[in-house]
Amino acid sequence: MVTGGAGFIGSAVIRRLIADGYATIINVDILTYAGNESTVAEESGYLGYRHERVDIRHAREIRELVHKYQPDAVMHLAAESHVDRSIDGPEEFISTNIHGTYNLLAATKCEIDESDALHIAEKELGFDIGPCSAQLMWRGLRSRPVWRILGYSSEPIPSQRAVLLIDANTAEVLEAVVEENPEDWDASTKQTA
Ligand SMILES: NC(=O)c1ccc[n+]([C@@H]2O[C@H](COP(=O)([O-])OP(=O)(O)OC[C@H]3O[C@@H](n4cnc5c(N)ncnc54)[C@H](O)[C@@H]3O)[C@@H](O)[C@H]2O)c1
Repeated sequence: MVTGGAGFIGSAVIRRLIADGYATIINVDILTYAGNESTVAEESGYLGYRHERVDIRHAREIRELVHKYQPDAVMHLAAESHVDRSIDGPEEFISTNIHGTYNLLAATKCEIDESDALHIAEKELGFDIGPCSAQLMWRGLRSRPVWRILGYSSEPIPSQRAVLLIDANTAEVLEAVVEENPEDWDASTKQTA
């Protein structure tokens, strides 16, 4: 999904995505004075190309679009970009650039919290997790919220360690690497003591 795909940068991105063979490309662009559909018109015959003439300031419509297409990645390029215009009319800049950006981020908000992510990780690994860290990140150009769990098995000296990536919307385990814990916890415990 590309927002602002009829603009200067967005249209170049869409041409590149088509050249790279992406199957489905959704252009979310309301076509303001800055948008020019003809910049992507030659591609509009591309089987996987769709133009959704939606205003990113409309939260409900943006949520519906994200829900409908479930994009793997969002490149957010819709903006009020001509800075000299902000002197006469700053409202458009604030609503599009700030509220519009927020609407996109909020449309992909997490359904899975940290404790859910840890339970999913334990189920996947088949052992209880002891010491661990959970970090929320945005994968694929900040498109999807993903939990990154780094965890050790729960014995006093953990025998295993693992790292997992879990989709924070769908609960899908995207990647899981587990191995025997190579760290010498016994030595580090003695040192601390
Ligand atoms: N052009 C550059 O050289 C350059 C350099 C660095 C960063 N950027 C950034 O890249 C982004 C895109 O820049 P650009 O030059 O392509 O801008 P642009 O003005 O050419 O295109 C912006 C596009 O966004 C669409 N749009 C505007 N408001 C919208 C809204 N509310 N809902 C949906 N669509 C809307 C417009 O119709 C237009 O097609 C901006 O954030 C800009 O700051 C641009």
